[in-house]
Amino acid sequence: MSVKEIFETMEYGPAPESAGDALAWITDQGARFGHFIDGAFTAPSEGFESRNPATGEVLAELTQASQADVDSAVAAARRAQPGWAALGGPGRARYLYALARLMQKHARLLAVLETLDNGKPIRESRDIDIPLAQRHFYYHAGMAQLMEEELPGRVAHGVCGQIVPWNFPLLMLAWKIAPALAMGNTVVLKPAEWTSLTALCFADLCRQAGLPAGVVNIVTGDGAVGERIVAAEVDKIAFTGSTEVGRRIRTATAGRGIALTLELGGKSPYVVFEDADLDSAVEGLVDAIWFNQGQVCCAGSRLLVQEGISESFLARLRARMDKLRLGDPLDKCIDVGAIVDPVQKDRIAALVEGAGGEVYRADCPVPEGCFYPPTLISGLSPADPLMQEEIFGPVLVASTFRTPAEAIALANDTRYGLAASVWSENINTALDVAPKLEAGVIWVNGTNMFDAAAGFGGLRESGFGREGGWEGLMAYTRPAETSAPLVPRAAPQGDAVEPQAVDRTAKLYIGGKQVRPDGGYARNVHDAQGRLVGQAPIANRKDVRNAVEAARGAAGWSAATAHLRAQVLYYVGENLAARREEFAARLDRMSGEATGAAEVDAAVDRLFTYAAWADKFDGQVRSVPLRGVALAMRAPCGVIGALCPEEAPLLGFVSVMAPAIAMGNRVVLVASEPHPLAATDFYQVLETSDVPGGVVNILTGSHAELAPVLAAHMDVEAVWSFSSADLSGVIEREAAGNLKRSWVNDGRARDWHAAPGRAFLDAATEVKTVWIPYGA
Ligand code: NAI
Repeated sequence: MSVKEIFETMEYGPAPESAGDALAWITDQGARFGHFIDGAFTAPSEGFESRNPATGEVLAELTQASQADVDSAVAAARRAQPGWAALGGPGRARYLYALARLMQKHARLLAVLETLDNGKPIRESRDIDIPLAQRHFYYHAGMAQLMEEELPGRVAHGVCGQIVPWNFPLLMLAWKIAPALAMGNTVVLKPAEWTSLTALCFADLCRQAGLPAGVVNIVTGDGAVGERIVAAEVDKIAFTGSTEVGRRIRTATAGRGIALTLELGGKSPYVVFEDADLDSAVEGLVDAIWFNQGQVCCAGSRLLVQEGISESFLARLRARMDKLRLGDPLDKCIDVGAIVDPVQKDRIAALVEGAGGEVYRADCPVPEGCFYPPTLISGLSPADPLMQEEIFGPVLVASTFRTPAEAIALANDTRYGLAASVWSENINTALDVAPKLEAGVIWVNGTNMFDAAAGFGGLRESGFGREGGWEGLMAYTRPAETSAPLVPRAAPQGDAVEPQAVDRTAKLYIGGKQVRPDGGYARNVHDAQGRLVGQAPIANRKDVRNAVEAARGAAGWSAATAHLRAQVLYYVGENLAARREEFAARLDRMSGEATGAAEVDAAVDRLFTYAAWADKFDGQVRSVPLRGVALAMRAPCGVIGALCPEEAPLLGFVSVMAPAIAMGNRVVLVASEPHPLAATDFYQVLETSDVPGGVVNILTGSHAELAPVLAAHMDVEAVWSFSSADLSGVIEREAAGNLKRSWVNDGRARDWHAAPGRAFLDAATEVKTVWIPYGA
């Protein structure tokens, strides 16, 4: 018998992993769990059952956290936080390291528990979930060790509320808890109601590690408990889950001065070019969409295959699907396990039921119960709901493309932006297409690769913020400095109706042209002595729309080289310097103080600083323990809408504009409300400095009226506010629409003359993680 024949005739016998130790652990705990608060388990109380989805058996009873439970967890975290932060990075590193070691020692218990609770194949929990969770603690032990040296001036937020989903229960816990603790925060975490057991086992490990009481608190329960955490006195919320709930959390936290990161859904494209290694690409798809039964936020759930190979590729894929083995998740030979809960299975079935196109179900035995067969739906139009909606199950939708340009357009035709895979043996094609895919994570000739050193997170309705890598630490720290409260400035008033100097007709500046405001209104602008100095147009929502359209049209700026952007910024600086006396005199009149010259000098310096940064705020290469490297590339956000500060009307304006355009963004800037004329004077500088039309658009008018329009605009990717008016609530609420990033001032005065550090550069960029094969 040849080896080939042996392989073809061999029957796979079951290779079950024993559930004994995990069930014994549950029994030892009484099979009824309370919460883990202030270093101890609370007595179990009224709640719900946690079931094994593969069998329907009840595993344990869990407690639904009451308001009092959440309050006491938050209070414990609050009490513990100063001491935890004061331990210092190296002190905290020891605990994180101890936790990593304990997770490693109990790896099999955790893996089996995860599989029992979630239904995922033991192969995955044993080889992926649990090792990656450990790695996260090891990696962040290192980050704690390095924090003081490498992140000077940054401190912990305080208490973090963290809400995780059911698809990677322990791994998502690790992604949330490890960086939070490393940076000196304490946490109140809620696991998903279907999958709380590994979180409770982790709590037990925290006890064994001697972690100070209150540093980690775990409360169990459903969405109502999540809402209580979101409403509690916490300093930061980190959420992974559905876009719908993410949007609700964005709204609920609006205006409360709470830091927020959201890791939400996706419909990630999996792009296969005709020169791809087709067998590898088929095997990749198994990992993309049948890993964890397709219940993966970054699942390659939307196959785009080049037309010429589409038929043969789909034929290979169907043949591979037929060989997938569904069944008992504890069986080590199983490829596809159980769906997490009958509710989810019904949801998937309902979505597929009405599907158009051609539906192919894998020709493999499907066990009774909570199992769903691997499914392929081909021949759908790009606008079909199934090409757009997240199914979150083992269902792949497929479509074709002809050219690379069409592949990119189709791949980006989604409201999400979490991940993408590109498959081609041609390095030029692969590396040309990868950066054009609008997603937070891009895999070249691979899929679903993760590591603590590589940032993970999305764009658009996939949320904002990154987990992992250096960029992930931004989500768990804030600048240390606290300054005086920011006091709103009223516009100088006066009775004069005749301007004292030459009449200056300020206009809006949109698409490189001076334009009159749509509404035809302007307001009188007075100097510090109450003398009339001119009129500033009052922009309305139509002007905002025109400005955003102009900014969108200037997309070439984002594709321009950093060298070119630097040259343009230097030129703007030079031209401003040439008009120093004129600008200084006007600023002196506005403020009634002789500070204008210093402000102009500082503005010129800022332009030069960001010109310098344009080609130096580089990406990084991350060492991932896989065959390849992960590039952490800095990409522009796109169109940024910003309300400029009232104080330092020129320097503030320049400090907001320069980093944004240096990084390749196009901006819609609303000038200082009381002193708008510094910005309108500035457009003359822009006009003479080779800044392409549409890159910088300048509006004047009421911050309170324009802020919600900018924040709600679906074609704006990020919104910043340095206005002293308290607009954070309205901005963060309106930003929930397309889940754009927002950066609102924290109510503290900012010294615009001081060096701004890297905060603006961070805010002006998205970190895109691009995994490429490298080395053998
Ligand atoms: P979900 O977003 O409702 O649940 C995720 C977590 O949020 C759970 O811990 C849940 O208890 C909590 N939660 C629910 N409502 C909340 C609220 N109002 N405030 C605070 N926390 C709340 O997701 P669900 O219902 O379990 O799944 C529905 C769909 O969401 C899935 O079919 C899938 O499309 C998507 N999903 C995406 C995930 C991802 O990783 N991106 C993970 C889980 C679900």
